[in-house]
Amino acid sequence: MAQAKPSEAVNFFLDGNFGPVAEERDAQDMQVEGTIPKDLAGHFLRVGPNPVHIFKEEAYHTFDGDGMIHAIEFADGAARYRNRFVQTDGYKLEQERGDWVYKGLNSILDPTPSRVPAGSPSNKNLANTAFAYHNNTLYALHEPSRPTVIKLPGLETLGATDFNGRLKHPFSAHPKVDQKTGEMMTFGYAFSTPFVSYSVINSTGELVHTTPITIEKPVFMHDFAASEKYTLFLDFPITFDIDRAIAGGPALGYEQEHGSRIGVMPRFGSDEEVRWFEVKTGVVVHTANAWDDGDEVVLQASRSKTADIIGAGTGAGDKLSDTQGQLYQWRINLNTGAITEGLLSELHCDFTRINDNYACHKTRYVYAGLFNSKRAFTFDGVMKYDSDSASETTYTYGADRYGGEAVFAPRVGAQAEDDGYLVSFVHDEKANQSECLIIDAQDIAAGPVAAIIMPFRVPYGFHAGWVAAD
Ligand SMILES: [Fe+2]
Repeated sequence: MAQAKPSEAVNFFLDGNFGPVAEERDAQDMQVEGTIPKDLAGHFLRVGPNPVHIFKEEAYHTFDGDGMIHAIEFADGAARYRNRFVQTDGYKLEQERGDWVYKGLNSILDPTPSRVPAGSPSNKNLANTAFAYHNNTLYALHEPSRPTVIKLPGLETLGATDFNGRLKHPFSAHPKVDQKTGEMMTFGYAFSTPFVSYSVINSTGELVHTTPITIEKPVFMHDFAASEKYTLFLDFPITFDIDRAIAGGPALGYEQEHGSRIGVMPRFGSDEEVRWFEVKTGVVVHTANAWDDGDEVVLQASRSKTADIIGAGTGAGDKLSDTQGQLYQWRINLNTGAITEGLLSELHCDFTRINDNYACHKTRYVYAGLFNSKRAFTFDGVMKYDSDSASETTYTYGADRYGGEAVFAPRVGAQAEDDGYLVSFVHDEKANQSECLIIDAQDIAAGPVAAIIMPFRVPYGFHAGWVAAD
């Protein structure tokens, strides 16, 4: 067989530290620079695409990869690492067969006959995107699919759930858990009606409320927000349009004319109760938090001018900086209808996180990954934005070092909102060495208090999570 030229052999999302790892492993007594804090107790989790059986390498898309969880369990100043595949039905089917069954996002129109068995769902539940922890249950999430229950500490897959038959719609990778009420709000979007559905799961894990949410046409709605009283939906202009695809454009693409509107509905409201507010046109992939402030509801998110969703930021055309978000805030006055909106910081960032114990209530701080200015999907560092002083502090990982999402882990016994650590995986591309960094969230500019030198490569992935030991 003729050898392909390197330029043809490389798929961005199979190359370098985007490439998958084959083995599931365990490690203890890892080399540490600095000292792992004794008051960091719980599980740091990172999920991402880790494909095993690929239909065609050149057509592989990062959104196709089987979910793999990389986890570090912290206790008494020590760390233990595990990585495990999420054993979804689709993963198991391909393992049994020893070959691909699902063709993937870029190959939907490929004439090769599908191998999906009759009666099985045509799409794989990849469980590769993000986590939720609610009612003492850890879920690995994939937005077209049902949540997959994962057991700690061993990361065993217990299976997908439909909440005793009550979940009738796709389940977002970014549900919101209000720790004060114990409720988890979620939604799902679809390309057929209802385009959006919304549900509330109560503190004992029972799905108790569902309503459709009417919007004009299907959109990519990756995230939403919830305050103490309201749930907010983002009808923003990454639209799904078959006619545009037939005309040679993207099926899922930016459509300026669609505009942007935020729907505000009481937490247990219904479709008719949604109030839609027109805002300046932009794109939001991830929100940070929302809260109520008198007559106003406040939303903070990462917002960009446009987006390249299917290209995952690697597509030609739009300037990279136009597709990379910046921290942005909307204040919606529910009494007068007045909207105040604007940039909070000039820095390009996404994968916005807060102290999850404060979700749906007023937060002072947002943490976010600082975008790599040259390449999509990795971060040069991390930032902390302070709403009170309207300023940010940053820490950058250094030359040839790129990181993923930094999650906030509250210190054991924490009193203040930012009393804790930011934990993330970073990869040194020159040394081909992965590390887990632990940064004091009250002084991120000081850099890590500990860096765990990973004995195995940890590929770049999607979202991270933290489950406290208590
Ligand atoms: Fe996400």
